[in-house]
Amino acid sequence: MKGIVLAGGTGSRLFPLTKITNKHLLPIYDRPMIYFPIQTLVDAGIEDIMVVTGGRNSGDFLRLLANGKEFGLKHIHYTYQEGEGGIADALALAEHFADGHRICVILGDNIIQGDIRAAADRFRAQSHGAHILLKEVADAERFGVAEVAGDRIVGIEEKPAHPKSNYAVTGIYMYDSSVFDKIKTLVPSGRGELEITDVNNAYVREGSLTFSFLSGWWTDAGTFDSLLRAANMVKESGAVADRAKGAA
Ligand code: DAU
Repeated sequence: MKGIVLAGGTGSRLFPLTKITNKHLLPIYDRPMIYFPIQTLVDAGIEDIMVVTGGRNSGDFLRLLANGKEFGLKHIHYTYQEGEGGIADALALAEHFADGHRICVILGDNIIQGDIRAAADRFRAQSHGAHILLKEVADAERFGVAEVAGDRIVGIEEKPAHPKSNYAVTGIYMYDSSVFDKIKTLVPSGRGELEITDVNNAYVREGSLTFSFLSGWWTDAGTFDSLLRAANMVKESGAVADRAKGAA
């Protein structure tokens, strides 16, 4: 399985912090945000990784990450998203890189305490479709929210005013190669973006979306409050910090 870190967008919710740099280069306690999603992929045994950047200072990713030696990698692939057409628009740029393989996609501002090894193994054993990770949260209206019936997801709503559950869809998605054809059928949402929630709902309609629950804490870091929370969580959880430093 190949890995893709999505680090495009303008990070407008963090202005003026993101006025002169890319959101994913901002510090989370003692290292740049992008270190965490890369480490999550590496910890899941994924070593063929592409970073989709965009917006400001994208050249700094190359200078920061180089060929990924700090993560034990031999090489990192890069591509550039023009504009901010949404998460699914950024993912579409990785079609050539994926080259028919399964992919594990992680949003560049998602930070987790634990690892996704069990979920990745489960998806590797799945014949086709997609697998996503859910997390029970108190503020579900900030996220994609899954409606679950028994062991099935029956639908996902993007930032609903009245969430049907407390199960946030985290920014970690595993897809078979049909994901790129699904993206080609999407139309921009009300916020003018190609939504990853629409991709996931295409798998729901097909009956091939499975899920598991993420253990340990999870946070995004795209708002002032979540950026602060992420830094505090990393500080209080030394093990995560050491892993993301490539010290494990
Ligand atoms: O964090 C999980 C949530 O992420 C999910 O629950 C939502 O369903 C999903 O839509 C997303 O919500 P956000 O509104 O928080 O996404 P945001 O626009 O902050 O983008 C998250 C990351 O995706 C960002 O750090 C980089 C990447 N991205 C985003 C956009 C809009 C891109 O690479 N390109 C883009 O154009």
